Amino acid sequence: MFIDTHCHLEDEKFSEDRAEVLECAKIAGVEKIINFGSTLKSSIAVTELAKNFFELYAGVGIHPEEIDDFDEKTCVRLAELAADKKVIAIGEIGLDYHWEKDSARRLIQQKIFIEQLDLARQLNLPVCVHDREAHGDTLKILQTAGKNLRGVLHCYSGSLETAREVWKLGWLIGVDGPLTFKNSAKLPEIVKAAPRDMILIETDAPYLAPTPYRGKRNEPAYVVEVAKKLAEIRGETLDKVAAYTTANAKTLYGL
Ligand code: NI
Repeated sequence: MFIDTHCHLEDEKFSEDRAEVLECAKIAGVEKIINFGSTLKSSIAVTELAKNFFELYAGVGIHPEEIDDFDEKTCVRLAELAADKKVIAIGEIGLDYHWEKDSARRLIQQKIFIEQLDLARQLNLPVCVHDREAHGDTLKILQTAGKNLRGVLHCYSGSLETAREVWKLGWLIGVDGPLTFKNSAKLPEIVKAAPRDMILIETDAPYLAPTPYRGKRNEPAYVVEVAKKLAEIRGETLDKVAAYTTANAKTLYGL
């Protein structure tokens, strides 16, 4: 059994066939799926989906590319959503310097990231972090404002050195489709070095479909391809990878 620990099934790309996608996931052995919001609207949508489907859970938060969606009432609204027992995390939140080049707006991203880390602490919830080309500042914030919080750096794209610092904090890394790509660069080396209890598998569907589905719409069933690649690189059986990644997800998110 597998858990897809990061997904966006509220996306309109699933509006035609969401139930079939869930059925395919079940057949593939994916027993639970966690959907993350990136705006207030999508946070509401993933919460509603989680209420309607037994196997779905939700994380709520404002993504760093969506900071214009954040105002002084946002954390109160997120806390209201998090009162539902199927809402099990704050995310995805973090920093994205790939799409944001303006230094003033990067500072706003940091401020909003920290406010949502504080919210996670108040609500005693784990955190799912988006870090794109902002590894130094993300790590610094996790070491300070994120102190004593639990969480995952989803779709990990930093260096092995940074990963070691992340693991030292007790945070996990999330691994997705890019691990299966021919140009997966430093990722194989990182997952090989990762302690077994520090890895989660995820799809980030509808984005980042793994080989052999690369370029198509991604879906939770394909998380098995990520697990297969992990097994190959680490010299483990698929069963073993399924067992410890599922256990890691259950421990982090209290499933
Ligand atoms: Ni995502």
